[in-house]
Amino acid sequence: MDEMIQDYEPQATRRDAGDAESSRASRGWWDRNADEYQSEHGGFLGDDRFVWGPEGLDEAEAGLLGPAGSLRGLDVLEIGAGAAQCSRWLAAQGARPVALDLSHRQLQHALRIGADGLWPVQADAGALPFRDGSFDLACSAYGAVPFVADPVRVFREVWRVLRPGGRWVFSVTHPIRWAFPDEPGPEGLTVASSYFDRTPYVEQDEQGRAVYVEHHRTIGDRVREVVAGGFRLVDLVEPEWPAWNGQEWGGWSPLRGNLLPGTAIFVCERGERAA
Ligand SMILES: C[S@@+](CC[C@H](N)C(=O)[O-])C[C@H]1O[C@@H](n2cnc3c(N)ncnc32)[C@H](O)[C@@H]1O
Repeated sequence: MDEMIQDYEPQATRRDAGDAESSRASRGWWDRNADEYQSEHGGFLGDDRFVWGPEGLDEAEAGLLGPAGSLRGLDVLEIGAGAAQCSRWLAAQGARPVALDLSHRQLQHALRIGADGLWPVQADAGALPFRDGSFDLACSAYGAVPFVADPVRVFREVWRVLRPGGRWVFSVTHPIRWAFPDEPGPEGLTVASSYFDRTPYVEQDEQGRAVYVEHHRTIGDRVREVVAGGFRLVDLVEPEWPAWNGQEWGGWSPLRGNLLPGTAIFVCERGERAA
């Protein structure tokens, strides 16, 4: 819901958007907005840190992918990697990361910052171009999952390319945020719509074509999707806003972060059989 770099004013609405329309919109939006995203948030993300969301929870402290030292030698898939900051941190831990993203422009930023020790791949998370059992671990910091109409399809793909027992850890906008306006100030503290309204947020052009799509799920929906994808839910982390973090990121801010969760991180393990 960042500002757009386009010659028309997109219209924001809530309406249905299927997988193909969502994917097409995401690819175009991230290609057009990658430069602005990286110049606005690249400093906070750092070139080679693994940050789970605007609260600044750092994987080096959180250890959600596994204890310190346990990543060495692992094949890791990062989904919706953007400029691959997380993959670069994974490579520094001795892992072999693949940084997958739908957006060519985001991956160009990955190459600009440096692709030593990682492998950038342009693909849709709903159709992963890898053999079964290629990875020990999969992760995603706000990549792909909030933008797809059919997350179970993504989760089943992640299940397929993971080895038995592999972890799948992903962060998304915390579902409670959907009930509030996407504003960092006091106006973002009053419920404006139903938490239970799953109608996607869509920005569309003058012809009614989606140019940006985000999909809302409740916490219960997400748990059911994880299970339907063949995973066990090991933990659900709601990072608290730390005192050191004074920055605003879109609608995420210290004011709201001290009162409401902004990010949900799902820590999952691959079950024996696809559900
Ligand atoms: C909010 S950005 C997060 C990027 C990075 N993980 C970070 O923390 O900066 C979301 C990323 O997901 C990617 N993305 C969106 N839909 C996708 C899809 N269906 N398959 C793969 N990547 C997708 C976008 O291109 C974008 O780079």
